[in-house]
Amino acid sequence: MQEKIEQLKQEITEKFANVKNMQELQDLKVLYMGKKGIITELNNGIKDVAPEEKKEYGMLVNSVRTLFNDSFQAMQNKLQEELINEKLKKDTIDISLPSKKIKRGSKHPLNRVIEEVEDLFVSMGYDVYDGPELEDDEHCFRLLNYYVGHPARDAQDTFYIDDEYLLRTQTSASQSRVMQENKEKTPIRIICPGKTYRRDDDATHSHQFSQVEGLVIDEGISLADLKRTLEILAKKLLGNDTQIRFRPSYFPFTEPSCEVDVTCFKCGGHGCNLCKQTGWIELLGAGMVHPNVLRMSGYDPEKYTGFAFGTGLDRLAMFKYAIPDIRLLYTNDIRFLEQFDRKDEENEIKY
Ligand code: DAH
Repeated sequence: MQEKIEQLKQEITEKFANVKNMQELQDLKVLYMGKKGIITELNNGIKDVAPEEKKEYGMLVNSVRTLFNDSFQAMQNKLQEELINEKLKKDTIDISLPSKKIKRGSKHPLNRVIEEVEDLFVSMGYDVYDGPELEDDEHCFRLLNYYVGHPARDAQDTFYIDDEYLLRTQTSASQSRVMQENKEKTPIRIICPGKTYRRDDDATHSHQFSQVEGLVIDEGISLADLKRTLEILAKKLLGNDTQIRFRPSYFPFTEPSCEVDVTCFKCGGHGCNLCKQTGWIELLGAGMVHPNVLRMSGYDPEKYTGFAFGTGLDRLAMFKYAIPDIRLLYTNDIRFLEQFDRKDEENEIKY
């Protein structure tokens, strides 16, 4: 028996030495350890062995089994390692190859304009204020001198939530909040970017637009301060040659009130189809804060004066990037947005 076992061990060792792949390894397992495998049968044969020989028989069979299992494990590890090494060799990364192109998003044209405006005003010492889009009648109208039933409310139809709450209809809704929060603290210098909602729907007006409201309150603020500030804004956004002009207008919350035009940046003020041959394009509404508005929000109009302005940035973005329809700014069409993935200057259309 001992001899038979030694022979078997030698045979197993030789067979393992010749194994070349996982399949051959598995075949060996079936041959020796399968249901009818050689070692399995030897193991089962113990029942026919005389009792006094059982112990030795068992030990001998165990030693072959151990040899088989150890050899199997070692060979399996070796083959697996070889497989991994082969795969690593095949999958080596050539770091000199150009990488796959990553699709980069681009800044929305509106955000470009908003950031430009914010940067400018922050550089002049203004704070950026975040007013609510869901406003109440008091701040959107009453504190701005539009008493209930005021005819000028008609021009500001919007989305009402109930009798008191509405979506902010105009670019002046935050100023009373700022004044109330500051309680005669001066100077106040804020801009308030955000969204404004109106009942509009055509190529140049949408139910929603991006606004910027501006407010400055201090002792001795005059129309000259307003004029210079808006001149800086216009030149920064639309080019150094841009001129501005004030046209008298009416708004309940500023006195005097005006509409501010800029020289047409397509024709430089000579007259063209963009400016309807006038040489001017309307940019924003502005004026000196009405004494009632100051008083209602806690500032003494005998001591303090201020100016305010408000504009839609969508129009500005449309002019700046020659966008023909305002709705393109809100439909998230990737083909439209992709056009802005280059540097700002490259996108600016030179008329
Ligand atoms: N709030 C006005 C609007 O949304 C724009 C405006 C007009 C703002 C005159 C002002 C102003 O500050 O004085 O249409």
